[in-house]
Amino acid sequence: MIDRNTLNPKIDASVAQLQSRFGAAPEVAVVLGSGWAGAVEQVQGAEHLSYAELPAFPQPKVEGHVNEVVVGHMGAQRVVMLRGRAHTYESGDCTGMAGALRSLKAWGVKVLVQTNASGSLRPHMPPGSLMLISDHINAPQRSPIVGEPGSERFVDMSAAYDLELRQHAKSVAKAENLIVGEGVYCWALGPQFETPAEIRMFAAWGADAVGMSTVPETILARHAGLRVMGLALMTNMAAGLSDEALTHALTLQQAQASGARAAAYLAQVIAGMAALDSLKS
Ligand code: HPA
Repeated sequence: MIDRNTLNPKIDASVAQLQSRFGAAPEVAVVLGSGWAGAVEQVQGAEHLSYAELPAFPQPKVEGHVNEVVVGHMGAQRVVMLRGRAHTYESGDCTGMAGALRSLKAWGVKVLVQTNASGSLRPHMPPGSLMLISDHINAPQRSPIVGEPGSERFVDMSAAYDLELRQHAKSVAKAENLIVGEGVYCWALGPQFETPAEIRMFAAWGADAVGMSTVPETILARHAGLRVMGLALMTNMAAGLSDEALTHALTLQQAQASGARAAAYLAQVIAGMAALDSLKS
């Protein structure tokens, strides 16, 4: 449960840091998941700030991991990228991104673009495929906003993944002749991969992809009033759907193989947001 008395001063301090370092907030923030790190190279005039300077952001526990925000431009669109996210499977705590996302909102960000690596439940989305998230299934039924006060906690999730932003992303894919699927992302807590029986159940529920992130952040972002878009990169067929054993190394390998294409598409989607009237300040 979020301790607001502890978190709120950290959010204030983080917003002050972001403001003094980068000035006004970009309209768009991106959380970079596994396989998406290459997107940082697409940021023009990139400036970096370590999470260590931002007390509300998840503090890196693993030496050698880059945990930082990167601010710059993708085409005409200014953007802030978050390299490094807290996963629920690291600690059992699903509130790890609350401070970071609330800081972005308080700074003035309007849109959160989430990216992740996922297992595919659909043969027509083999490893390397991209999927726009149209909706999600919170399989663990865990919520990062348990204990929040007021009626705002009863967040409407019926259109959590913004329709206009999805349509924009689809039109970019069409213009680039890229096949980008659309479907339902199912959150599995992890860190173990799923069993084939679990995957059959998720498929029967209507899931198209499965992964260990994104859903807590979407709930936090909607609660904070951010618009959300989600892009999943399929790194493997989910458990039981291929003969290959599931390993972290396999998902990283596939993420690397498709990462450049995914990053290039992301950069085009972000750049095109500069033309969206609904994002103009
Ligand atoms: N399951 C859960 N998370 C994942 C997978 C998967 O198959 N692939 C990449 N992240």
